Amino acid sequence: MGEKITVATVQARKGGPPLTMVTAYDAVMATIADRAGADLILVGDSVADNVLGFSDTLSATVEIMIHHTAAVARARPRAMIIGDMPWLSYHISLEESVRNAGRLIREGQAEAVKLEGGRKRLPVIEALLAAEIPVMGHLGLTPQSVRVMGGYRVQGRRLEAARTLVEDARALAAAGVFAIVLEGVPTIVARAITRLVPVPTIGIGAGPHCDGQVLVFHDLLGWHLDRRKAKFVRQYAQLGEVAVSALQSFFADVRSGAFPSESESYRMEEEEERAFEALLNELEGG
Ligand code: KIV
Repeated sequence: MGEKITVATVQARKGGPPLTMVTAYDAVMATIADRAGADLILVGDSVADNVLGFSDTLSATVEIMIHHTAAVARARPRAMIIGDMPWLSYHISLEESVRNAGRLIREGQAEAVKLEGGRKRLPVIEALLAAEIPVMGHLGLTPQSVRVMGGYRVQGRRLEAARTLVEDARALAAAGVFAIVLEGVPTIVARAITRLVPVPTIGIGAGPHCDGQVLVFHDLLGWHLDRRKAKFVRQYAQLGEVAVSALQSFFADVRSGAFPSESESYRMEEEEERAFEALLNELEGG
């Protein structure tokens, strides 16, 4: 196991070997991500639609995020743990935003927080940084804005929107975020932002020129059985299908009596077993 990944490690990777980030929502996933060599583990608010059965991320709450972030932290990964700030946890007041981010750090053991949005988030970002909480930005297709975007649409496809994204990214970097997730933006825009900002960019649906890439654990491992795959997702396994087939085998073995076998069962000491059988005879004999 190498050295713990910190804000400084991530910042130093600007323009260097690409950063690897994946979401994880519990200790098992975090251990798998860490063993595989993740630099960053994002406890995303995507826990809501990937694990908890909600249709989008808007149902994630601070309590839910703390619960899952703490589970990830218990795996003690080498990867840096980023706790996602859920919708409405940083929109109401600066005081509440700092309190909520602080809970992700103190109770969830996150090592940084991520929040969505451009220049309108500067006051929140400044307040969190003033409270010594490292912040990762998130621009482009920001899922918490699904209602105002009218769906999950690629952002920055037109000149003015692309200019806005570039300016937002520059403003976030100047404010002190240590990295920026770029989601669902054209490759050319992500490449420009990556060149223009001094902090690492981590892309998801943002082309190959970012300083790192992130995917959702369930998407890249093919956990979902009946879900449309987004264009930017590369599925490296179909674990949902593997799991169904494994469970089918288990149920078939139960039905046929092939499970459990002798080697999957416990025995008494031989002498104890003989004595127990004698006792049983007595009991059965009345
Ligand atoms: O919550 C999440 O999974 C995210 C990633 C899509 C970056 O924010």
